[in-house]
Amino acid sequence: MNQAVFTLFGASGDLAKRKLYPSLYRLYKSGVIKENFAVIGTARRPWTKAYFEGIVVDAIGNLATSKSDAQKFASHFYYQSHDVTDSEHYLTLKNLQDELCDKYQTNHNKIFFLAMAPEFFGTIASHLKSENIVDGQGFERLIIEKPFGTSLATAEKLNEELAQAFDENQIFRIDHYLGKEMIQNIFAVRFANILFENVWNRDFIDNIQITFAESIGVEERGGYYETSGALKDMVQNHILQVLSLLAMDKPNSFSGSDILPEKIKVLQNLRMPNDDDFVRAQYTAGTISDHTYKAYVDEDNVANNSKVDTFASGVFFVDTERFRDVPFFFRTGKRLTEKGTRINISFKQDTNIFGQMLENNVLTIYIQPTEGFSLTLNGKEVGKTFEMAPIKLDYRHDAETLGNSPEAYEKLIFDVLNGDSTNFSRWEEVQASWTLIDKVIETWATDKTPLYYYKAGSMGPRESFELLEKYHTTWLWTP
Ligand code: BG6
Repeated sequence: MNQAVFTLFGASGDLAKRKLYPSLYRLYKSGVIKENFAVIGTARRPWTKAYFEGIVVDAIGNLATSKSDAQKFASHFYYQSHDVTDSEHYLTLKNLQDELCDKYQTNHNKIFFLAMAPEFFGTIASHLKSENIVDGQGFERLIIEKPFGTSLATAEKLNEELAQAFDENQIFRIDHYLGKEMIQNIFAVRFANILFENVWNRDFIDNIQITFAESIGVEERGGYYETSGALKDMVQNHILQVLSLLAMDKPNSFSGSDILPEKIKVLQNLRMPNDDDFVRAQYTAGTISDHTYKAYVDEDNVANNSKVDTFASGVFFVDTERFRDVPFFFRTGKRLTEKGTRINISFKQDTNIFGQMLENNVLTIYIQPTEGFSLTLNGKEVGKTFEMAPIKLDYRHDAETLGNSPEAYEKLIFDVLNGDSTNFSRWEEVQASWTLIDKVIETWATDKTPLYYYKAGSMGPRESFELLEKYHTTWLWTP
């Protein structure tokens, strides 16, 4: 049974309400956490415990089995108005933590969750140490939200700051994509199917295409996005993590300690990109499902001459024996045609006895909004002549309709409770990915790669399609 006091920095934030409270509730409902847990929510606002409980009850909404159950769950939540730079406040926090540890018999186990502006991460870590909140009793684990730095240098600085209070094996850097059902399923597809395991290499795979498309714009996050852009927001973390799962060698076992070195090997063997390997672009006004959306530069908190990328696309190469010279194409962007996260693995075609050109076999992994797989095979068309045609084997379901796919955060918090860091970004991965992304940003800063534009509702600029043509292929998914 799991016992812990969670201290959450950023308790009034959007992430806490949308993801964390519902995820904790689902863990509670399934019995992963029962009586022996408490949550200390901290933020600057002067909330009372009762008010905070109301926020939590609202956040779990109709997930709750009954009103009384929701209230019982929320009674485990305590609130402290907290200024992260004020040492006095940490003393109060320490007292509350000790009191709750006794009250809920949590064995001194502590989980700290940093879900707020990253500039405070270092200050919080050093206070947690100096005020003895991290005191070496029970397990002590830190969950930290992205972004982990904005460059290699800032990531290194942040890492050093966290190291004042936590060892690497106590730090759980969230990349919520690693908690997604179908991303975790990449392991199953690759290593539980002899059909794929033996052909998952440069001899048989022609190219891999990763599409993380979003139809939403920057919403109310213009301020953050102006300092980030698609490359830092999605590629440095989510896309490179997924790429490492697709490209890694087979680990000796399905354990974090065996998987991690294989993932790191991929990231450390990424070939440094050429200037024309990447395309960046920004959305202009356009229409999605009969609704007209404004241009990025007209969004709130965005400079009207902003050159920030809302779309990034490109090609990666992994210089390992397994994948040398196989292009891994990717594209991600806001205000694209529709929300769709999927991976296409296109296999090479061999010479054949039919005297006809055959389509490549394609394995598609659908991550969201539907989850599942499809596999395109070549078969004979019905009829007297022998014409070949692609046939699609499709297995998909709508995760939300079935309601059986745990929310990524639920799975990730479960992993932290169990001390399992397999689905988190480790420092060496972060280091390797920033090294590469820094290089791209350096090139972009010199304007060697122009900023292109695309209409809201399209799948990005023409240049992203032309990039694949250079490799004699096309995007397989064209919604
Ligand atoms: C976040 C990005 O990490 O991922 C957001 O900061 C993006 O900009 C989001 O919208 C996408 O996540 P999901 O789970 O909706 O695909």
